[in-house]
Amino acid sequence: MRIDVVSIFPEYLAPLELSLIGKARQDGLLDLRVHDLRDFTTDRHRTVDDTPYGGGAGMVMKPEPWAQALTAVAAEGSGDAAGAGDSGDARKPVLIVPSPAGERFTQATAHQLAEEEQLVFACGRYEGIDERVLEWAADHFTVRPMSLGDYVLNGGEVAVLAMVEAIGRLLPGVVGNPESLVEESHSDGLLEYPVYTKPSSWRDRDVPAVLLSGNHGKIAQWRRHEQYRRTAERRPDLLAEFDAGKLPRADRTAFADLGYDVVDGRLKRRPDA
Ligand code: ADE
Repeated sequence: MRIDVVSIFPEYLAPLELSLIGKARQDGLLDLRVHDLRDFTTDRHRTVDDTPYGGGAGMVMKPEPWAQALTAVAAEGSGDAAGAGDSGDARKPVLIVPSPAGERFTQATAHQLAEEEQLVFACGRYEGIDERVLEWAADHFTVRPMSLGDYVLNGGEVAVLAMVEAIGRLLPGVVGNPESLVEESHSDGLLEYPVYTKPSSWRDRDVPAVLLSGNHGKIAQWRRHEQYRRTAERRPDLLAEFDAGKLPRADRTAFADLGYDVVDGRLKRRPDA
């Protein structure tokens, strides 16, 4: 996969040289390039922003440098993607614009984006990028404004660090043991079960006995029920989406104990619970 990140603070992306993502780059699994937006300006001051039409606080990023930068990275990428697909038809790169006004970035989005050939991240600063850039870009990219969550960061860079890590670790060969991708939070629409390691007793706290039992069936069931308990407690919103149609009886009982009944394959919180 090829990833291009365009930012006025390229140094912000330095952590992408470390750890699993850094190793994936070294191993040639991920071709990640960071570009300075100011390199695509034409004036002496390398200006990237101006005052907003209609007034208001802050500055808006100018369209010209963005169009130059995005044209350049799309052209570079299509060269690299020459082998793209057996049919030879090159897919449009995906332009991800981090913004609190974007659609929510989830684990499902990460899986979807991990299938792409080229991702381009456009890091906005100030009040954002002139809207016409996104309209123009739709001819050359699949444009996806994306939000990490309902809070406001100072710019897109931190969001890009998070999204690139979430996507990059799903690429084949990046995570050493791919099984660890299966049993983790959000892989099945639930939060992960709690984990423990040695010693089995620590500061008067014992590891749950079932985990020392060697009974793999019981352990799997305990872990599943812990997922249900945790998700009900911390993220009940996830349970509304959970497919409960094929749950075994013991799991329905576990949900009943948490105050949820299965109605038409969906979990419904009992009003009295
Ligand atoms: N830029 C500023 N805030 C953001 C957020 N919540 N998600 C993604 N990008 C952002």
